[in-house]
Amino acid sequence: MKIKNNLILAMDIMELQKAEKVCETIGNQIDTIKIGYPLTLAEGIKTIKIFKENYNYQIICDYKVADIPATNSKIAEQTFKNGADGIITHGFVGEDSVKACQDKADEYNKDLFLLTEMSHPGAKRFLQKDADEIAKMGVEMGIKNYVAPATRINRLKEIREIVGKDSFIISPGVGKQGGEAKKTLEYANAIIVGRSIYESENPKKATEDIIKSTK
Ligand code: XMP
Repeated sequence: MKIKNNLILAMDIMELQKAEKVCETIGNQIDTIKIGYPLTLAEGIKTIKIFKENYNYQIICDYKVADIPATNSKIAEQTFKNGADGIITHGFVGEDSVKACQDKADEYNKDLFLLTEMSHPGAKRFLQKDADEIAKMGVEMGIKNYVAPATRINRLKEIREIVGKDSFIISPGVGKQGGEAKKTLEYANAIIVGRSIYESENPKKATEDIIKSTK
């Protein structure tokens, strides 16, 4: 996936009207947003098509899919059927569950992003132990896209080493969670930023500043 300015906006605003206002303010500085449960549960899956049609954005759905294969397949089917360009899937559920999403992504010619280690402090207790194995599984499965944390650059670097230079890593945790944009982009292909932009008094300037800080 090509991502303008290597910046993905995490659109976790729970009112579509407010979310659209942020998009209008930011203008064409970005071309990709990430939608998760907050907006989807508040306003419905129709939001994918609305952002695509009104702003021509690419949409990555951060549904952190983590169920048995049969259910993962249904979740991925609905996500792609409703226009998503990518879906984030948890890796800890194992190869068969991830493969169910991978098969759907292939069927729709869209992207699967495999989540390795999460960005928040709590991820250290359980997920971190298995994150390298999750990344290795992704490589064995031929997965090209990964999610890895901006909050622990050493871990991001190690995950990059496992998935290789040709894989595509998107990285959440820049801004509010403490990660730095430029440092993150040494190892990731794109950063994911939410609150630092949409909670800002001036989302347009906040976006400009983040983009400038990456140069
Ligand atoms: P903030 O407001 O912290 O938003 O800039 C970050 C966004 O990214 C999501 N997030 C993650 N998604 N793996 C993911 O797939 C992660 O490790 C992770 N950490 C944060 C978060 O839900 C929000 O949308």
